[in-house]
Amino acid sequence: MKRCIAIFSIMLIFSFPAFFAMGAAEKDEGRYAGAGVCQDCHAEQTKSISKTSHWKKVIKDSPAADKGCESCHGSGASHVSEGGGVTRDLITFGKKGTAKQKSEVCLACHQNSKEIAFFDLGVHKRNDVTCIDCHTVHNSAVHNLKTTQPNLCLGCHKGVRSQLNRQARHPIYEGKVKCTDCHTSHGGFGPKMIKADSTPDLCYKCHMEKRGPFAFEHPPVAENCGTCHQPHGSNHEKLLMSKPPRLCQGCHSTSGHNNRPYSFQNSFGGSATGSRNRFAGQGCLNCHGNIHGSNRSPFMVR
Ligand code: HEC
Ligand code: HEC
Ligand code: HEC
Ligand code: HEC
Ligand code: HEC
Ligand code: HEC
Ligand code: HEC
Ligand code: HEC
Ligand code: HEC
Ligand code: HEC
Repeated sequence: MKRCIAIFSIMLIFSFPAFFAMGAAEKDEGRYAGAGVCQDCHAEQTKSISKTSHWKKVIKDSPAADKGCESCHGSGASHVSEGGGVTRDLITFGKKGTAKQKSEVCLACHQNSKEIAFFDLGVHKRNDVTCIDCHTVHNSAVHNLKTTQPNLCLGCHKGVRSQLNRQARHPIYEGKVKCTDCHTSHGGFGPKMIKADSTPDLCYKCHMEKRGPFAFEHPPVAENCGTCHQPHGSNHEKLLMSKPPRLCQGCHSTSGHNNRPYSFQNSFGGSATGSRNRFAGQGCLNCHGNIHGSNRSPFMVR
């Protein structure tokens, strides 16, 4: 204990001169330089923000109507009096700050907006992805995005990028479907940040006819479209996880006509004898054409 006190006193003595040496800059700390001061030295950043909604005084609670540049950059009085020094209280959004600190600046105003309200629950937040990984406030692009979709997302999501290179895919590169039609970048309650409570509910938004109700349902359909489809892209047509008959035989393989071996002898190549069953190349869909459900046939045949 005594040693602790001794060390503490020594520390105190040595730090005294530093206290006295505190210059004007230290006294400025925590104070705001005020509107209009920053633009003298930062014409470029002033110009780049001037066309954005952040710089519209008429918008209530915008930075322009609040503390101007300092709404985001923190109090800049000491930075100004030092002629541009990097001081403790200036928020630069540089490498030193943590993800949390950076996002908190934005959340101070955006926490309550509908789209951002669940940022704290999102997988992005948990993985240190910040607002400014996707947004740059010093430009006037749509929604202040750094770049357009899908590249905005694919830069980090390499796995999805390779799925999009497959033969069948949603028309994402064509711009007909966006990542954010299906996902929220900001976090929410859906699994995998999808914009719905479940995968089928998501898919029904654009593929309503698959919802039914059908007199004869195919149970896996309402359960999860993702059992048979890979939503981003697949090498099998119609985004299928695998090709029929294998896709079907994964579940229907116990008995009956549906578990015949898929061999040369049993397909078109073989000779037509009674014992051989040639289901047109075992294309289950040739007969079971209404695979998502039917109002006519319990076997979902066409
Ligand atoms: C007297 C001129 C001057 C004024 C006034 C001024 N700055 Fe600076 N600022 C500088 C200089 C010089 C730098 C260093 C530039 C560099 O390193 O490229 C700088 C750097 C910055 C940086 C980047 C720091 C970094 O490390 O990347 C930010 C952010 C910044 N200033 C914000 C502000 C804000 C906000 C205001 C108004 C409160 C302001 N500045 C007023 C001169 C000024
Ligand atoms: C809505 C928040 C916000 C406001 C308001 C804002 N900035 Fe920034 N500023 C940022 C962010 C975030 C960055 C980090 C780089 C980026 O995302 O573009 C930044 C970067 C900078 C930089 C560093 C240089 C650079 O381009 O990286 C300077 C200098 C700067 N801002 C000055 C200003 C000045 C001057 C104003 C007022 C005219 C201002 N900022 C208003 C958020 C803001
Ligand atoms: C002082 C409050 C304040 C701060 C701090 C703030 N914003 Fe905003 N922001 C606003 C207001 C107000 C609007 C306009 C809201 C509207 O149009 O409904 C806005 C609009 C936006 C928009 C939508 C622009 C558009 O054209 O659709 C984006 C994106 C945005 N802010 C991102 C950010 C980011 C990123 C940060 C942190 C670097 C940030 N904001 C910091 C108040 C703030
Ligand atoms: C992973 C990328 C990403 C991150 C991280 C992100 N955003 Fe966004 N944000 C977007 C995209 C993309 C849009 C465009 C709207 C859409 O397509 O859903 C958007 C839209 C917005 C809008 C406009 C909302 C509207 O529809 O009017 C605001 C405001 C906004 N973001 C603020 C923020 C804030 C604040 C943060 C951090 C807490 C943040 N964003 C983090 C990608 C992102
Ligand atoms: C048609 C809707 C749809 C579109 C468009 C879409 N996704 Fe997905 N995505 C999903 C669904 C559904 C899942 C969940 C799959 C599961 O349950 O495993 C998912 C899962 C993911 C995952 C989690 C990892 C994984 O593969 O399971 C990431 C990351 C992802 N998507 C990113 C993206 C990106 C980036 C884009 C744009 C290039 C995009 N998604 C476009 C529907 C979509
Ligand atoms: C700065 C890098 C970065 C950007 C940009 C980015 N993400 Fe992510 N995203 C991540 C990381 C890291 C994770 C967590 C690890 C993972 O699942 O890959 C993640 C996870 C996800 C997930 C999976 C959620 C889960 O529950 O597993 C989805 C969906 C997603 N991102 C969609 C998007 C979309 C849509 C965009 C573009 C609007 C985007 N991301 C942009 C880094 C990024
Ligand atoms: C935002 C709207 C939207 C959502 C949500 C959506 N899709 Fe699509 N889907 C489309 C569009 C657009 C096409 C292309 C239609 C065309 O080319 O005629 C398509 C095509 C398809 C195709 C046919 C692909 C082909 O190669 O012909 C399948 C299968 C599909 N979607 C499954 C799904 C599944 C499964 C989900 C849920 C995970 C889903 N979709 C969610 C818009 C959507
Ligand atoms: C049991 C497997 C299976 C499930 C589960 C499934 N599908 Fe399919 N889906 C298929 C097959 C097989 C095809 C190809 C049918 C064809 O070519 O006639 C297909 C084709 C499609 C197509 C493109 C052709 C068309 O009929 O429009 C869309 C869109 C589609 N499915 C959406 C969905 C949606 C949405 C769900 C979930 C509600 C879903 N699928 C669930 C097997 C399935
Ligand atoms: C994820 C598992 C799964 C997959 C994959 C699947 N089914 Fe089914 N299917 C079922 C279930 C469960 C039933 C309900 C009847 C039962 O319990 O056998 C069913 C019922 C059927 C029926 C009606 C038979 C009856 O007894 O009522 C037909 C026909 C059928 N499936 C064909 C197919 C075809 C063709 C495919 C491939 C495109 C396929 N199924 C893929 C799980 C699956
Ligand atoms: C030549 C048309 C045809 C083809 C091809 C076909 N089916 Fe069938 N399937 C039927 C008919 C018709 C029924 C109604 C019951 C019956 O008459 O045996 C049926 C019944 C079924 C049933 C329910 C009864 C049972 O036998 O379990 C399942 C499951 C089934 N088919 C799955 C499949 C699968 C999986 C494939 C592809 C490997 C397939 N079918 C290919 C015509 C066909």
